Amino acid sequence: MRQVTGPVSKQAWSPDKLRQQFPILQREVGGRPLHYLDNAATTFSPRCVQDAVAHYENHSRSNVQRGMHQLGIEATDAFEAARGSVARYLNAASCDEVIFTSGTTFGVNLAAHCLGQSLQSGDEIVVSQAEHHSNFVPWQQLCQHYGVRMRLIPVLANGSLDLSGLDQVITERCRVVAVSQISNVTGSITDLQTITRQARRHGALVFVDGAQAAPHGPLDVQALDADFYAFSGHKCYGPTGIGALWIRSPVLASLPPFLTGGGMIERVDIQGTRYASGYRRFEAGTPPVAQAIGLGAALDWLMTLPWRGIRAHEQALSRQLLAGLSQVGGLTLLGEAAAQDRAPIFSFDIEACHSHDICQILDGYGVALRGGHHCAQPLMQALGLVATSRASIAVFNTDADIAALLCGLHDAVETLR
Ligand code: ALA
Repeated sequence: MRQVTGPVSKQAWSPDKLRQQFPILQREVGGRPLHYLDNAATTFSPRCVQDAVAHYENHSRSNVQRGMHQLGIEATDAFEAARGSVARYLNAASCDEVIFTSGTTFGVNLAAHCLGQSLQSGDEIVVSQAEHHSNFVPWQQLCQHYGVRMRLIPVLANGSLDLSGLDQVITERCRVVAVSQISNVTGSITDLQTITRQARRHGALVFVDGAQAAPHGPLDVQALDADFYAFSGHKCYGPTGIGALWIRSPVLASLPPFLTGGGMIERVDIQGTRYASGYRRFEAGTPPVAQAIGLGAALDWLMTLPWRGIRAHEQALSRQLLAGLSQVGGLTLLGEAAAQDRAPIFSFDIEACHSHDICQILDGYGVALRGGHHCAQPLMQALGLVATSRASIAVFNTDADIAALLCGLHDAVETLR
């Protein structure tokens, strides 16, 4: 996340005012108000995102980069403006470094596939044991396919990364290091600086899974000193089915295409094909135009928010949640203990209570959590767990959401024990 400085907010920070922008927050669940705390899985869209998509659908719907007519020109302008919004949100050096994808998973697969062809036996790829399957399985597949060794950054007892032996894990054989900026399970914030420094020492490329970091405010990929940064729209208040992959220009220029077909070529003839340069080489076929426009609107909206005030609000909610969880007997929290040292994603295990039962009981209180292995089975194995319950906070959550969760949780534990 970019450093936020200056006064708390020029405009008065009001979560209630912000909530009015989300039509879905008006609904009830089983006759109770909705307390949505599953934002790390998918969060909601404000009205301005829905309006941007509707405007394209009802006003300019047509294909992009092909149409010679007014609608095609408008659609292309809106689509490329959305790419500009992604570039600004990430502080990319150029729009040419931004590839629209269907989400983080696609971004990891694209990078893994394109890098595979340059690997040789004896090379190594490093991932952490805390990765989401989307940033684990594509690299594992790659290693199996090319006979490359996959090495793991281990985790501490709380699930945060253990970087104490990093120089033994990232060595001169390492070609790629792939890690998440924020864990989708523990909410731990990865010390990317230490990891990139070690990777650079050996000339390895760095892939950052930003799926859980991107929703928490504008980013600065140039300052991260990474080579790849992937994230998803639906966790960033945008539509589903869209995301972006940023690739540093010289790295992007060195990669072969991933999918081939229309839109990614410069010239095709019977003898062969010359590919387009920049992002276009990686966007074969008609792109998800409406979704990209919605993502652009979501990121524009995120860039207008008073982040200093929002972070203070998120931390207040985090402290309220942490204090409540500490009162639940037999509860083990993953990640850092202090609100200021972590992102607002909280996974916990409660002795003798399965997370699926907890989530089901809480659903009866209108509280939406995620329960299970969170697509991070290697982490669960390392911690000796099968599943956890997870609450994840978005900009529209309030103390009423946390209070409803804590109230339901106490009842759930009483029922299940
Ligand atoms: N990656 C999403 C999560 O952690 C689905 O819930």
